[in-house]
Amino acid sequence: MKHLIEPSDLTPQEIGDILDLADKIVENPDAYAEKCRRKKLATLFYEPSTRTRLSFEAAMIELGGNVIGFAGADSSSAAKGESIMDTIRTVQSYADIVAIRHPKEGSAKVATLKAEIPIINAGDGGHQHPTQTLTDLLTIRSLKGRLTDMTIGLCGDLMFGRTVHSLIRATMRYKGIRFLLVSPPELRVPDYILEDLQRHNIPYQEVDRLEKSIGEMDVLYMTRVQKERFFNEEDYIRLRDSYILDLDKMALARPDMIVLHPLPRVNEIEVAVDDDPRACYFKQARLGKYVRMALILKLLEVEGC
Ligand code: NCD
Repeated sequence: MKHLIEPSDLTPQEIGDILDLADKIVENPDAYAEKCRRKKLATLFYEPSTRTRLSFEAAMIELGGNVIGFAGADSSSAAKGESIMDTIRTVQSYADIVAIRHPKEGSAKVATLKAEIPIINAGDGGHQHPTQTLTDLLTIRSLKGRLTDMTIGLCGDLMFGRTVHSLIRATMRYKGIRFLLVSPPELRVPDYILEDLQRHNIPYQEVDRLEKSIGEMDVLYMTRVQKERFFNEEDYIRLRDSYILDLDKMALARPDMIVLHPLPRVNEIEVAVDDDPRACYFKQARLGKYVRMALILKLLEVEGC
């Protein structure tokens, strides 16, 4: 049984196959409209979500399948104290595949322990978010034409931002990648990720000012300061506006740089930037549905996909 808990559960070849399939679906969605007929996706979301849950659900519906699930721990038996493992053992008699989001790091992995159907991690605490990464990779590949030979800047909350951790883990496997890590000292990339980069001799630099490094970037990945992961509100308030991408900073960037953001945005990108052709975050959100369609088809081993 194949699960997707973190990007390294997929080889670069498998990721390439998923992105290729997503491209084919974008070109001809009608050809896939019946591929998951009578199949059910369960979305078990114990944390807030807009894009991830709705794009998963839209993906399954567009494949001709159905969706069950809950959006909030309060409306599930978790509120009564049920373990994730017991929930999965139950849900697998009703569904063919599960997407789970949970505030605890490692929870998606725990969900796989007794699972007989594919489990997809839709975000586990401040740890990983592999389907956002597939979305990011599809967006970068569509817009830049490659996943190799690039300087990728990541800016904001690099400590708690799970999308950051997954994106680094996935892109470091391609040739010629260099990272510029822009964060306040309190929100640096966690050591386990930096150690990975060091072990594989991947070039990276930690910097504290976006203005200083934006001109070197091919991709700028902005992130929100993850309010819900802070232990005290004062720290959050002090750090939340550390970086605000505005038109002045965009003027320092290359004409072919692209700006991505997993969304939701709070303050970190001024709305005026949205009209710059390099601002690609809403395009990115749109592609999330197609890459999830491709992932569902692959994990369910649907014939001919
Ligand atoms: C991200 C998440 O949930 O980690 N959102 C998303 O899935 N697109 C990013 C965030 O919440 O900041």
